[in-house]
Amino acid sequence: MAKVMVGKASDMGAGSITHVTAGGQEVLVANIGGKYYAAGNTCTHAGAELHDGTLEGKILTCPWHGAKWDLTTGQMTWFPQKLRPIGSYRVTVEDGTVYVEV
Ligand code: FES
Repeated sequence: MAKVMVGKASDMGAGSITHVTAGGQEVLVANIGGKYYAAGNTCTHAGAELHDGTLEGKILTCPWHGAKWDLTTGQMTWFPQKLRPIGSYRVTVEDGTVYVEV
């Protein structure tokens, strides 16, 4: 388990999405209502980078074909076919800095 710095919490306001490469994984970090959540950044349908998607509440819509992902769980909430979860990761905030554990 590696703990990787994402950035300053003050630069990641509510509704913002950022992404980092951590432990060889592409990880997306979103601020949803003042709380940070991390999930895989690669859509398991055809590989779109999810940080380019649209965030509404906790639901992120894939920019390519519209799959909907719950960023609090890493689970798909809508798509015509079943997709593998994108995964979710633990996020911590220490002294104003956001970290993700992968
Ligand atoms: S790549 Fe995300 S829905 Fe197709």
